[in-house]
Order: sequence, then structure tokens, then C-alpha cells
Amino acid sequence: MNTAVIYKTKYGFTETYARWIAEDLGANLLIADKVKPADLQNHSTLIFGGGLYAGGVSGIATLTKNFESIKNKALYLFTVGAADVTDQKNIDSIRGSLGRVLTPPMMQAIKIYHFRGGMKYSKMSLTHRAMMGLMIKMVRKKPENELRAEDKLMLETYGQDIDFTDRQMIVPLLEDIKARMK
Ligand SMILES: Cc1cc2nc3c(=O)[nH]c(=O)nc-3n(C[C@H](O)[C@H](O)[C@H](O)COP(=O)(O)O)c2cc1C
Repeated sequence: MNTAVIYKTKYGFTETYARWIAEDLGANLLIADKVKPADLQNHSTLIFGGGLYAGGVSGIATLTKNFESIKNKALYLFTVGAADVTDQKNIDSIRGSLGRVLTPPMMQAIKIYHFRGGMKYSKMSLTHRAMMGLMIKMVRKKPENELRAEDKLMLETYGQDIDFTDRQMIVPLLEDIKARMK
């Protein structure tokens, strides 16, 4: 099987999913920032993964910049965020943000999956800490009846490390890829 998992991670959550996927598919594991166009050409199935930061997907430029030369391959993208991806509102919000980065032909060609990562306040960069500080201030200002499940979770867990990674989450992606290869 000629598959590569190309990922970018800041706190290790995307890497956990990338390693699970690569292990289950016997795929090569590549770091998005180090990937060269030739590495992409050497594989027929490309699975890109990145963490969500204020709606943007970390490392997605590796996919968008090279899209013209890889558009005929089997393309997958998975996002890893703290938000609960069993909540359709969160999925809609991620899709909305992706729609600003991916063109309609990209959206059509790439199969997209969403996994849940976590928060690592203990290792957080100063910039991310400041961003989270601004976000919690906004959430704390919201009236109780406007708080969404995500807001409540943030209020309850602010400052604590949480990990929602779950190997089961990758099953639909694996099945999709295996079915396409049959
Ligand atoms: C500043 C900041 C912004 C974030 N924005 C989002 C977001 O918009 N949506 C989301 O689901 N998670 C968001 N997260 C949570 C990360 O996506 C989460 O920690 C993810 O597991 C990171 O994956 P990584 O460690 O592979 O980079 C944010 C985290 C930080 C620190």
C-alpha cells in the first residue's frame, strides 16, 4: 500500500492520530514542514492532518500549495481540535472555516474527517496562553443561558491538561481508505 500520513502537531495530539493511522494502514509518516513535492508524488494516497487553531488547520498549506500536482491522488484531511466532534454545530463551524481556506475543487477532491484532541496548558506557548486567556474572558462575559457545551467545558477545564484522543475515532477513515483501495 502506497500511502503517506503527513501531519503537523504542536502539542502531540495530531501526531497520536497520525501514528495510529500510519500503523493501521502500514503507511509512511511524514512531517508537513519537512515534506518535499517528490515525497508527495511517491504516494498514491495522501492523508493530511493538523491541529485546529482559531479555526485554521495547522500545516494545511502543504496540501493547498501542492494541490494542483496531487489532485488526482486519493486525498484525505483530518482535523484535530479540542471541541466535541460528535456535536454537529462544531463540525459545521470547522467546515465553515475550512471553506475559507480550501477552494470548491479542493473541497470536492478531499475527504475530510474530524477527530478530538485535547488541551495541554502545561506545555502551552506564551502566544497560545494569551489567546486562551482572551477566549476565556469572552466566555466568562456570556450570560448563562447563552453558554454552549464547549463554553461550559472551557470554563470547567481552563488551565488543566485534558486528553480526548480515542483510537476508535479513526475507524471510519480507515474503512473509507480500505474500501477505496479494493
Ligand atoms: C490558541 C488555541 C486556539 C485553539 N483553537 C481551536 C479551535 O478553533 N477549535 C478547536 O476545536 N480546538 C482549538 N484549539 C485546541 C487545539 O486544536 C487542540 O489542542 C489540538 O488537540 C491540538 O493539536 P496538536 O497538539 O496536534 O497541535 C485551540 C488551542 C489553542 C491553544
